[in-house]
Amino acid sequence: MIEASASAKVILFGEHAAVYGQPAIAAPVSSLRAYATVETNPVGVHGLHIDAPDLNQRLPVDIRAESVDNALTLTAQLVLTTLAVEPPDVTICLRSRIPIASGLGSGSAVSTALARALCLVLDRPLSESDLNRLVYEVEKIHHGTPSGIDNTVIVYERPVYFVRDKTLETLTIGAPLTLLIGDTGVGASTKIAVGDVRKLVDADREPTEQTIREIGAISEQARSAIEWGDAAAIGRLMNANHELLKLLTVSSPELDRLVDAAQNAGALGAKLSGGGRGGNMIALVTPEHAHHVEQTLLTAGAARVFQTTIA
Ligand code: MEV
Repeated sequence: MIEASASAKVILFGEHAAVYGQPAIAAPVSSLRAYATVETNPVGVHGLHIDAPDLNQRLPVDIRAESVDNALTLTAQLVLTTLAVEPPDVTICLRSRIPIASGLGSGSAVSTALARALCLVLDRPLSESDLNRLVYEVEKIHHGTPSGIDNTVIVYERPVYFVRDKTLETLTIGAPLTLLIGDTGVGASTKIAVGDVRKLVDADREPTEQTIREIGAISEQARSAIEWGDAAAIGRLMNANHELLKLLTVSSPELDRLVDAAQNAGALGAKLSGGGRGGNMIALVTPEHAHHVEQTLLTAGAARVFQTTIA
């Protein structure tokens, strides 16, 4: 059986500010993945098809279609045109454990898994940088004006210190970080949140740009703290980053409730992660405190909590 996969991601610092060229830090969540398996077409069916049962979609891929606005068919089309090959006669079935519209990079992960599976069937590998470029093109459907951080951390599956349009820098983790990822259960569109921050910049330029710069400064300090393994400093910076994200209007009552609950239960720090307005928050905890903070998040209304270690 041919199968490929790609991980989820969390943004540790700098979401939204990344769109404006400020540094941001993200890490893969390798235990939470999207999968693409290659299956033979049913009798009488020809060409390349994408089957996404979770989305209730079964899509034929037309390599010559113009202005494709479906992220899955666009991914397949870009792989085929980049490699200059005709579609193979197979169905690629997609399944994902990553919640959709929740800030964990589900869109990038599914596209990456799909592109990897297609390359395997064709026996034509794409370099990581070509794959990253391709998934970035698809990200524009989800995000409008993405910074590129989601596709980058997911394609390379390494912790990254990311600055838009700059050479990728991977990050050394000085001491493993135990993170809880708390899902508000509220779906939210990153595209809308990014668009609303843009409107805020246009309406109230000076203070908003100042907030964005302060977030960038936090990402820079966090980089050193992460490399040194200074968990207490990382936690404080997460709390500060969350306050600034509130000023950008991308938090929500549900996110604030979970962030407050984690902070009060003894987490070293907590913040929303990703586009915000819903989706997920993250809390940095010591392994000894993880269970207590997790229970507190569930009591405070988290739809589910994942634990992961960034190492
Ligand atoms: C989304 O995971 C991160 C944002 O900063 C958007 C982007 O950087 O493309 C909100």
